[in-house]
Amino acid sequence: MSKFVIEGGQKLKGKVDISGFKNAAVAIIPAAILAGDRCIIENLPNIEDVHVLGRILTELGAKVEFNPEKKTMDIDTRGIVECYADYEMAKKLRASYYLLGASLGRFKKAKVAYPGGCDIGTRPIDQHIKGFEALGATVVLEHGIINVEAKELVGAEIYLDVASVGATINIMMAACMARGTTLIENAAKEPHVVDVANFLNTMGADIRGAGTDLIRINGVEEMWGCTYSVIPDQIEAGTFMIMAGATGGDIIIDNVIPKHLEPITAKLKEMGMEIEEYGESLRVVSPQKLKKIHVKTLVYPGFPTDLQQPMSSLLTQAEGTSIVTETIYEGRFKHVDELNRMGANIKVEGRVAIIEGVERLSGAEVSATDLRAGAALIVAGLMAEGTTELDNIHFIDRGYDRIEQKLLSLGAKIKRI
Ligand code: EPU
Repeated sequence: MSKFVIEGGQKLKGKVDISGFKNAAVAIIPAAILAGDRCIIENLPNIEDVHVLGRILTELGAKVEFNPEKKTMDIDTRGIVECYADYEMAKKLRASYYLLGASLGRFKKAKVAYPGGCDIGTRPIDQHIKGFEALGATVVLEHGIINVEAKELVGAEIYLDVASVGATINIMMAACMARGTTLIENAAKEPHVVDVANFLNTMGADIRGAGTDLIRINGVEEMWGCTYSVIPDQIEAGTFMIMAGATGGDIIIDNVIPKHLEPITAKLKEMGMEIEEYGESLRVVSPQKLKKIHVKTLVYPGFPTDLQQPMSSLLTQAEGTSIVTETIYEGRFKHVDELNRMGANIKVEGRVAIIEGVERLSGAEVSATDLRAGAALIVAGLMAEGTTELDNIHFIDRGYDRIEQKLLSLGAKIKRI
């Protein structure tokens, strides 16, 4: 078991390059099943979730080659004839549920064990199932396996009760080659929904309106292979912006889409940080003292839940009392106990965390309970006095591309042991 040892108190300085978006990549890789052909995916992050999906597609019969230097994955899905992903495969990541939509779209059937993923609260998939059923599929959950099958997929009008990212993407994939037109109402608008729709369109699909709450999918007869480049990771970029704030730093963040970062930029500016935009780069400068703010997580373009935990760490150093409300996942405060062990003063009441700013955190032995909790504890370790030892870092490796190397290049003192 590896862990990170972090010596706090170093101001981050220099440039960091943002990798491809994890949450787009983990949908785009399974979506390649729809092509039944060769796809080259570019700008992929070198993270465990990408490696795991590559292995799952290989086990299903695809030829997959990941090149971490070029950041590309060459996926030939001609060898896949059906999709059965057992518990051993599906438990490794949440995104295994995308095998359902992609395989239903291509083979009219799929069997996938109920997906795993970070333990951040209840994570139902009722809206995915509702969408598949509306398209004409029968869905049976038995012995932990979701069995989806349709004689024919026919376009339908589907209203989502919650604007779920996963359900929107899964239904788009299943509907690409359905007969007729599918409408998804109250669709998720996150940047990765748009990225996946662009990938599907490059493979021959006819999807319009992605990025708005009404998506129209006109069914097409066939799809084909393509080359496609994944957008930059909004959450990784946001994490580095927060780290700059945490250390009194001054950094340039390259390869970003500033528009996707607006919900984060707005809140950090409210805290007193200076953020300047230069095309595809941002300069982020931290002030002497951070101001308290209130944050509420919301669907895009609101403040992203995936940055709530790192943001909570930063707010421990703001002057005054900040209030953080988590509206997406009820269990996303597991990092708080660890932050309090480092000297933070945070009380959680239901979905609200009340954070009293403190003078300093002090380094301690702490443990990551999930991916973004891990990022939050790195933020805490960077600003704490003394040494922080962070274990369970396999969670961080699932979603951050060589985070310690990027931090080292910015002057942080962090090592993996
Ligand atoms: N929900 C339902 N029914 C459903 C689907 C979702 O009630 O059928 C609820 C969930 O319980 C949750 C909310 O809707 O309260 C949002 O869930 P959503 O489906 O949008 O999330 P997801 O697809 O499971 C993805 C990311 C998460 C990210 C969320 C929100 C992947 C693999 N995961 O999850 O990423 O937090 O969207 O943006 O793309 C992370 O990267 O750390 C992470 C957890």
